[in-house]
Amino acid sequence: MRIGVLTGGGDCPGLNAVIRSVVRTASAHYGSEVLGFRDGWRGLLEDRTTPLDVAAVDGLLTRGGTTLGSARVAPERLNAELPQMKDVLATHGIDVLIPIGGEGTLTAAHLLSEAGVPVVGIPKTIDNDIDETDLTFGFDTAVSIATEMIDRLHTTAESHQRVLLVEVMGRHAGWIALHAGLAAGAHLTLVPEEPFDVEEVCRLVTERFDRGDSHVIGVVAEGAHPLPGTMDLRDGGLDEYGHRRFTGVAQQLGEELEQRTGKEVRTTVLGHVQRGGTPTSFDRVLATRFGLHATIAAHEGRHGQMVALRGTEIDLVPLEKAVARLKTVTPSRLAERAAFTG
Ligand code: F6P
Repeated sequence: MRIGVLTGGGDCPGLNAVIRSVVRTASAHYGSEVLGFRDGWRGLLEDRTTPLDVAAVDGLLTRGGTTLGSARVAPERLNAELPQMKDVLATHGIDVLIPIGGEGTLTAAHLLSEAGVPVVGIPKTIDNDIDETDLTFGFDTAVSIATEMIDRLHTTAESHQRVLLVEVMGRHAGWIALHAGLAAGAHLTLVPEEPFDVEEVCRLVTERFDRGDSHVIGVVAEGAHPLPGTMDLRDGGLDEYGHRRFTGVAQQLGEELEQRTGKEVRTTVLGHVQRGGTPTSFDRVLATRFGLHATIAAHEGRHGQMVALRGTEIDLVPLEKAVARLKTVTPSRLAERAAFTG
């Protein structure tokens, strides 16, 4: 069998571990060949490939990023060029394609599958917002990095009796903010799922200082936004993929807090550091298991599926179901914060 692999969307730690796992499983268990497409769907559209054998994936387990390169492609282009992608796959004799990616990549995988291409998807994203899987790899690494950074901010905030706001990634889902906030003992966690009331945030800050606390640490997901009418957030318009351009919610909230409470506020935006570097051992294991089970599914003809973590086991779920909606933070998970914030 010949398997095609590509990594799409924003990169995340663990992608290389999946590529290695697919190649080793295909080669050792089945004697199959693997061909990588460069830079996500773009490589498939433009017929740019790289052969992947066991030697090519040597040493990849611990390396961050993706050796195949990644890119975002506008959904309209993918839709319009489905026939071209099918032609390229046929030219290379690809029997099954394994796309590794987040919402956009898996939606495109579903489209290809509907168009008759055998596909097995693998979910990745530091945001952990893919539905039907308990976790995506990359998330644990991002949370670990964010936690370490927040731990460090506690001590400098204490020294200066400041409010420190930390902006973490999370466009639609606040999983990183929630988990890093809990792990690092943040006093405030703002997520996209729950618009914040700036007055409430000011009250919390003032109360903490009034009762003698030395500092306030707030974790703010980049997609967090104020309740309408409570504070203006600059509008950055939309990017070429139809995503809202962020304008720095933590910085703007910080300015508002300084004005309204008189406290000194500093803002740290963690940004892409959350996606860089080597994956945690948890992510290496999850990525390796996803790659193994996707390759087995590819050989057993279980196509149109995505591998998923369910409890401790790896399962298969229909791609159609996995991309139907995003997995956002649930009200019950938000309620758990109550005893540890404020
Ligand atoms: O989807 C993963 C993610 O890291 C989001 O958390 C973030 O909003 C986005 O990608 C950033 O994308 P880019 O790398 O294109 O700036």
